[in-house]
Amino acid sequence: MPDVLDFFISTFRSNLDLKHEPSAYYRPRPYRNAAVRFRACSPADFEERKEILVKQAGLNVFLFRADKIPGCDLLSDSGTTTMTMEQWAAMLLGDEAYGSNEGYFELKEQVGMTFGPQWRQKGGLFVGEREPLFIFHQGRAAENAFFSVLSRELKKRGLPAPKPLSRNLLPELKARVEHRIASMKGRANGPSEPFFIVPSNSHFDTTEGNIEDKFMVPLNLPCREHLANDERYPFRGNMDIEELGNLLDNEPGRVPLVYLTITNNTGGGQPVSMENMRRVREITRTHGIPLFIDACRFAENAWFIQQKEKDHAGRSIEDIVHEIFTHADGFHISFKKDGLGNIGGAVCLREESFFTKNYPQFMNDLTDYQIMTEGHPTYGGLAGRDLKALAEGLRTVTRQDYLDLRIRQVERFGERLKTLGIPIVQPTGGHAIYIDIDKFFDGGAKDDEFKGIAFTALLLIAGHRFCELGLYSFGKYDGTKELPPEPRVNNVRAAVPRLAYEDRDLFAAAEAAKLLYDHRDRIPAVRVEYGRDLKLRHFKSRFAFSI
Ligand code: F0G
Repeated sequence: MPDVLDFFISTFRSNLDLKHEPSAYYRPRPYRNAAVRFRACSPADFEERKEILVKQAGLNVFLFRADKIPGCDLLSDSGTTTMTMEQWAAMLLGDEAYGSNEGYFELKEQVGMTFGPQWRQKGGLFVGEREPLFIFHQGRAAENAFFSVLSRELKKRGLPAPKPLSRNLLPELKARVEHRIASMKGRANGPSEPFFIVPSNSHFDTTEGNIEDKFMVPLNLPCREHLANDERYPFRGNMDIEELGNLLDNEPGRVPLVYLTITNNTGGGQPVSMENMRRVREITRTHGIPLFIDACRFAENAWFIQQKEKDHAGRSIEDIVHEIFTHADGFHISFKKDGLGNIGGAVCLREESFFTKNYPQFMNDLTDYQIMTEGHPTYGGLAGRDLKALAEGLRTVTRQDYLDLRIRQVERFGERLKTLGIPIVQPTGGHAIYIDIDKFFDGGAKDDEFKGIAFTALLLIAGHRFCELGLYSFGKYDGTKELPPEPRVNNVRAAVPRLAYEDRDLFAAAEAAKLLYDHRDRIPAVRVEYGRDLKLRHFKSRFAFSI
């Protein structure tokens, strides 16, 4: 095997022997470990990891066996939460009845308590017409069901004929929408071109995929501070109000609903301010268009509002969450994030809202979809015990001491990387650190060298799993050359699982990243051996070091 891997292995090994500890004093955690799991591997097993990664996994971090990771597994914060003893205890009391199990009632009740009274079912027991909570096994299943039913509703009304976009759209915005429409045109079994547009501050990739799949145009309208990488701005997840207003003033008939993703995962886990939500709400109200929230990290977003937005200091998290959700006609959520669950998702629709008035059949049709794909609405693709764990998780996730610990830990991890000289996206978001790969390589790496992939591969040999979310994950290969994402994004993400790691674990990962940073000129390129032209290629591809 080439020398360069041996070089990195000996560098990692020498670091294992360091005796120093982080010197700063930190507050004790607000919980203590009630169960631990010893690792089935050791940090010193470099050769074994190299073998697995190079030979079995083709340098694809998704394909690397998790039980061979001795350090931090920061591939995702989704479904990776360490559950509390209360959640495990609740699971043991799971009621596995086929219809109307105990966990269902508990989760319904808790959804009303967590998100506010308007999300509580009024009077009697109904599924379909009046039940605001639609359970699914995870977030994307909820999104798929929601957009499938919405697209059927729109089709029932008769799809409008294609027509040019209004000339009054802001030129840059118009060009972006036209580009997106052109890229979707002429798809097999769709109409000649998509008509409807679903704007958001930034859709997550599965949401975007689900919207596109139903032949609607997903449109991201991130605020200027976001695009300008304005590090001093605390709410870089906000939506661009001017662009949204311009779109709705000139093309209201094309927009069936508007989205806010809190926090904005795609943009670095950045929060949305209450002020921005209010203004988006006002504009959508004026145009009679429903507002939906992708609520995966709602509690983390509420914490940022409490800590960083004037007028909200001193308010309780519960109170802020309730206010956030008064702005929404509906939301969907993956409980694998701020549900503190390992599985679970939902769509929630307000019984009396703009949206349900617009589409009176929607709740019934969504129930039918749920029955066909997930199961009876009272369990929705989950076991009864999972529902109990989620109800308990929702009680914990809005605790002030939990959120203080959670987000400050991510911040400290970011600070540590910064101190070590590693360029990260700032300010740090709620759930992850994003390393800027263009800056990491001083702008010197060629796009088709995929140095972000090489960095994650070497870091995995060191014992930590991060994930490339950049040129390879979001870019495309047109048969002759690489097309980077537009606007350009080239990050490696370290997503921190909830309640799973201590600072010293994350600092060990930061130290490994620093060793790679110090020797970045020796990090080899990778070539793609399989899957370069596949859709969703980063999950499936295989690579090799070009050395
Ligand atoms: N929306 C957002 C904002 C997300 O971050 C995710 C998942 C989903 C929807 C889909 O939820 O995974 O339960 O189907 N994000 C994970 C991540 C996968 O790693 O960021 P899901």
